[in-house]
This record gives sequence, C-alpha cells and structure tokens, in this order.
Amino acid sequence: MRITIFGATGLLGKALMREWREDEVTGFGSSDGDIRNDKEVAGLVRHSRPDWIILAAAYTDVDGCESNRDLAFDVNCRGAVNVARAAKQQGARLLFLSTDYVFDGTKTTPYEIDDRRAPRSVYGRSKAEAEVRLGEVLPETCIVRTSWLFGTGGKCFPDTILKLAASLPQLEVVGDQRGSPTYAVDLARAIFQLCRRGASGIVHATNRGECSWYEFARGIVAGAGLSTAVLETTSDKFVRPAKRPKYSVLAPTSLEKHGVTMPDWPDALQRYLAERKFGAPR
Ligand SMILES: NC(=O)c1ccc[n+]([C@@H]2O[C@H](COP(=O)([O-])OP(=O)(O)OC[C@H]3O[C@@H](n4cnc5c(N)ncnc54)[C@H](OP(=O)(O)O)[C@@H]3O)[C@@H](O)[C@H]2O)c1
Repeated sequence: MRITIFGATGLLGKALMREWREDEVTGFGSSDGDIRNDKEVAGLVRHSRPDWIILAAAYTDVDGCESNRDLAFDVNCRGAVNVARAAKQQGARLLFLSTDYVFDGTKTTPYEIDDRRAPRSVYGRSKAEAEVRLGEVLPETCIVRTSWLFGTGGKCFPDTILKLAASLPQLEVVGDQRGSPTYAVDLARAIFQLCRRGASGIVHATNRGECSWYEFARGIVAGAGLSTAVLETTSDKFVRPAKRPKYSVLAPTSLEKHGVTMPDWPDALQRYLAERKFGAPR
C-alpha cells in the first residue's frame, strides 16, 4: 500500500513514520503544505497517490485553542475537510485522528463510540465538528479517537513530569481527572492494523486501563527511579483556559471488533521510559 501521513512531524506522526515499515510511506509536516490550503493539500495527495491517508495534523494546543478559535476550526475542521475532499478525489481511504475531548466527561464508565458528543472546549468542538463533516464528505472515513498521548517525538505529560522531577523535591498533580494514557508507538501500530483491515467508522484506540494524572505522574516518577514526592491536588487549584473532561476513558470495544488490542498503559509507560534510557523494558 501507499500511505500518506499529514502531521508526520508531530508526536504521533514521528512514531508512525518510524513504525510503519511494510508499506511505501510519505510524510508531510506543515512546511510541506498547510492543510488549510485546499490546493496545496490536493497537490500533495495527487503527487503521493496514497491508498490510505493518515490525518494526524492538527492544532493541538488545547488552551491555545480557547483564545484562537478561528485557527482551531480552520486547521482542525476545515483543514480536515480539505484532506477528505482530496482523498475522495484520489480514491484514497482516510483515517482521521480525533480525541476523548469530544466528550463532556460526566460519565463514570468508559465512553462507547455512539455516546453523545458534548465537547467542553474549543479544541474538542473543532474536532467534534470535523468528525461530523468528514462523515458527510467521506462516509467511509475511519475516525480514531485517542487520549493522553505520550511518546519521545515531542512535548507530552511524562516528559514534563520527568523535567520537573529532576529539579523539584515535590510535585502537585491533579487526581480528579481520569483517562487512559496512550503511547504513540502502540497507537501507530494499532493504526497500521486498522488500515490493513480496511476499518471505517469511529474506533476508540488507547492503551488499556485508566488512571488519574496524579497516578500517571506517580508511575512516571517511580518508573524513572526518581525520589521526588508526588502530591495529589484538585483541578480547581490548577485553573486552565480550557475545561477538561473529568472522566474520558474510551472503551476498547470498537477496537477489539477489528481484532486489535493495545497493551496496558503501565507496560507502555515502561517501554517509553526505556526509550528515554530510564531502566530496562520488561
Ligand atoms: N496529544 C494528545 O494528547 C492527543 C490526544 C487525543 C488526540 N490527539 C490527536 O492526535 C493527533 C496527533 O496529535 P499529536 O500530539 O501528534 O500532534 P502534534 O505533536 O501537536 O503535531 C501536530 C502536527 O500537525 C501539523 N500541523 C499543525 N498545523 C498544521 C497545518 N495548518 N497544516 C499542516 N500541518 C499542520 C504539525 O506540523 P509541524 O510540526 O511541521 O508544524 C505536526 O506535524 C491530532 O489529530 C490530535 O488532535 C492528540
């Protein structure tokens, strides 16, 4: 197969570029083409002639989206539609990356794919609207919702915690938001398998298991062999521009229907720390 990746220079994109070995893969970052420009997108797609397009390009600064609403919708929604139109023109399949932030977080059990979208942030709204628009433009699009992405290819929560833990005796981390951390390497492998199986519709793809940010931070500090104390706090002490869902665990049912499973998050964290040269993988 020929694969074209938009967002190849990002956290997930770098993992996709590294992990995807069996096919002919072309990756684009924003300097190769801006997905807001339909002609640029069409040109890149025509030139790379993909069977599958992976759309991992997005404006992902969740707090930044609150003060840059137009940019958020231009990139995350209109840009995505440009890619879908180019895919249609080319006769290519599209896999679009979406987010747990399309949900409001009021559930206490894992979100299924048909649960109602109710985003609480501009970022979440731009992604939720993109999901709907892509369903209209290219109904066979595979929409992969993921959450709490981490990896060695860019800024992420474990990286921040490791840097802070190296310089501070103690850290305070919120314990009242729960989700599922997702290692970019494992997500890249799941995406690869979904394309192989010709998946369409919405699929939830995260590492298995759930935790709070506090529990995740404790796992990171302990896994790295650091002695920094991690203290639990609440979101009302860490007010940020964008509202986050309190609970955004995504059920693995839809992924398993395609015969794909992802490892538990503590296992994924251990492999990430090994990649960062903290300890050995199991
Ligand atoms: N990070 C998370 O926790 C998380 C959680 C759930 C879902 N997701 C979704 O997963 C996907 C990948 O996320 P990520 O964390 O890997 O993102 P990221 O590291 O922020 O990378 C974003 C990518 O998008 C590209 N990009 C941004 N604006 C663009 C534009 N106007 N035109 C073309 N390319 C543009 C960037 O290119 P340059 O770097 O070359 O500028 C970069 O390659 C996104 O769709 C995101 O919404 C992420």
